[in-house]
Amino acid sequence: MPDIHESIANCLATTGWYAGESIFAAELCDRLVRRARLLADTHELRSARVGRNVGVQANAQLRGDDTRWLAQAPVDASERDAVASVTGLQTYLNEALFLGAHEVELHFARYAPGAFYRTHRDRFRDDDARLVSLVFYLNDHWPDDAGGELVLYADDDSGTVVARVQPRAGTMVCFLSDRFPHEVLPATRERVSLTGWLRRSEVAVHRISP
Ligand code: OGA
Ligand code: MN
Repeated sequence: MPDIHESIANCLATTGWYAGESIFAAELCDRLVRRARLLADTHELRSARVGRNVGVQANAQLRGDDTRWLAQAPVDASERDAVASVTGLQTYLNEALFLGAHEVELHFARYAPGAFYRTHRDRFRDDDARLVSLVFYLNDHWPDDAGGELVLYADDDSGTVVARVQPRAGTMVCFLSDRFPHEVLPATRERVSLTGWLRRSEVAVHRISP
């Protein structure tokens, strides 16, 4: 685990992004995907909204996933283990990179077949609290031709692709939230992840999704 933490810190410090082995063990990915499916089956995921406060809009043209935020101290054991693991990474990055992140926010995201998230950045226009974006993929046996890749673009509007990542269980991605426009391509099958952010401070956030 310290090795993965070190790789992630090195990548963030040099290129600003990491894609590779996840800090979540295979058995945790497994428990999390079962948790996400249960939440989906019991209608506890909600259509994600874009923007915040007065800018909130449910915009199916831009984004088609369903999400559910984790509580700060979740009751569910898989959620608790995920929060603990991400908090461990946050502590490491704070020490290695003086990141200054003090808050973890995480949500499950489920994309139905054909759903996508058009090119966007992860910082709100009026809130620079998000420092690092994290995506933990939970999909077992993801075929190469199933689509659903995350595409990261260079921060210069050239459209240059920096990375393309298949959303396979055991893979995670993280990147500096202010740097990389990115998009989620449509897939031919359900695509599930736990996605989150390391945040600067404890400002009150109006959360858009429940
Ligand atoms: C997001 C996002 C990427 C992914 O939720 O903001 O960009 O690969 N997700 O799911
Ligand atoms: Mn994003």
